[in-house]
Amino acid sequence: MNNQRWNATAPKSLFDQGVAGRRATTFPRWDGEDLLVELPAEVRRAEAADFPSLSEPEVMRHFTQLSTLNHHIERGMYPLGSCTMKYNPRINEKVVGLSGLADLHPEQSIDDVQGLLGALKLLEKSLCTITGFDSCSLHPAAGAHGEYLGMLVIRAFHLGRGDRDRVEILIPDSAHGTNPASVVIAGMIPRTIKSRHDGRIDLDALREAVGGKTAGIMITNPNTLGLFENGIREVADIIHEAGGKLYMDGANMNAIMGKARSGDMGVDVVHLNLHKTFSTPHGGGGPGSGPICVTKELAPFLPGPWIHEEDDGSYSLKKMPVQGSNSIHTHFGNVGICLRALAYILRLGGNGLTRCTEAAVLNANYLLRQLEPIMDVKHGQGCLHEFVASGSSWKNDFGVRTLDIAKRMLDFGVHAPTIYFPLIVEEAFMVEPTETESRESLDHLVQVLRAIHQEARENPEIVTGAPHTTPVGRLDEATAARNPDLRWAGPCNCG
Ligand SMILES: Cc1ncc(COP(=O)(O)O)c(C=O)c1O
Repeated sequence: MNNQRWNATAPKSLFDQGVAGRRATTFPRWDGEDLLVELPAEVRRAEAADFPSLSEPEVMRHFTQLSTLNHHIERGMYPLGSCTMKYNPRINEKVVGLSGLADLHPEQSIDDVQGLLGALKLLEKSLCTITGFDSCSLHPAAGAHGEYLGMLVIRAFHLGRGDRDRVEILIPDSAHGTNPASVVIAGMIPRTIKSRHDGRIDLDALREAVGGKTAGIMITNPNTLGLFENGIREVADIIHEAGGKLYMDGANMNAIMGKARSGDMGVDVVHLNLHKTFSTPHGGGGPGSGPICVTKELAPFLPGPWIHEEDDGSYSLKKMPVQGSNSIHTHFGNVGICLRALAYILRLGGNGLTRCTEAAVLNANYLLRQLEPIMDVKHGQGCLHEFVASGSSWKNDFGVRTLDIAKRMLDFGVHAPTIYFPLIVEEAFMVEPTETESRESLDHLVQVLRAIHQEARENPEIVTGAPHTTPVGRLDEATAARNPDLRWAGPCNCG
């Protein structure tokens, strides 16, 4: 790590600031009876704790400064491909903070939580309407968790019919990286199918791959090249004829919401990433939500308890219909995230959600056309909400790699795109602007990339040595991700 740079911009810790006796809070005076109880000597401190003594403005400035050391959507554009880093509207926070929701306890009696159960049921129904399905489980806490549950459901369906041999899940090579991992964790075997040269699933390869071991296929749609799998109906027919089920990774729903429904495409299970499409916070490993929606046939394999709407409009909980089936989370999943997503859906309504899709696709296509003169986009035809460019020509012509471009973007206050993914594009540079960016911010991104292109041509060291303005320079990224050093080590010349 480049300590020099950290020295230049790091704020002092709170412990290195302040003056004895200064404070930010004044405690109210207690005028009642003196209730002080002497604590036993063995649990008392020998001396007062060494807390920092600071005024309120000092505390506010400190944390505001810290919040700008890392990038976030309120600070600037976040065009991270495959992540849908859209703005998280504040109304979602307001709704989830209402005391009738925020102050509930998960073990409270059913009579006390009727409002919450009603809200969750409404979310289930809304997601079923958006995807064209009959039943929904809000339990999964992330997209990959939804994939995992979907795999358990498909496996339980086959086992329920005594079909023990169906253990293979076919996965196109353009699938999201979590797909094969979820298959393995669910105890099944992923088998890759090559894409055609236009980036879509090869139906002939699929016909050859299916057989008596096929439990199903898992297909990311739109796929990670931002392309709609327009053969999906044929995929459904082929897989169903072979006795398998069609799982759709619907995390890219921001590209088709309000326009096309998985249930109408012959899909059996779909998951949604509420933290992508429905504007709930994510990133940094924060809580997410990856509900799955399924056909009537698969509904009995969803985990319980189920929220059941009685004839009189009240709600009760039903046990899971299939004994011991597929429990993956306590209660109803990440309820706070579910409520934020519901607030977003109700705020926008069906037409609003459809317009989000239209604007997300328009923004991606606008950017694609603007960037084509400086970057190759092999699979740009039919691009939906995101596209994958390639930095190969920069590498060949200027010795500047996609990693260097991404690092240099940070110096311009723009978050880097997703790089080196999907694997099927060399020097991949994957951009998803989302609908919440204005024309001006898209143009800003284009100007930044044009400026970096000029630097790469004229003075590539600026780009290959970037970033130059962030608190830390280039890290050993594998070590930083696997062994993050999150402790404050004191003021920095500590070596
Ligand atoms: C297409 C796709 N599928 C699955 C996932 C996995 O979702 P999560 O990161 O919530 O596990 C993602 C994540 O962004 C995704 O883009």
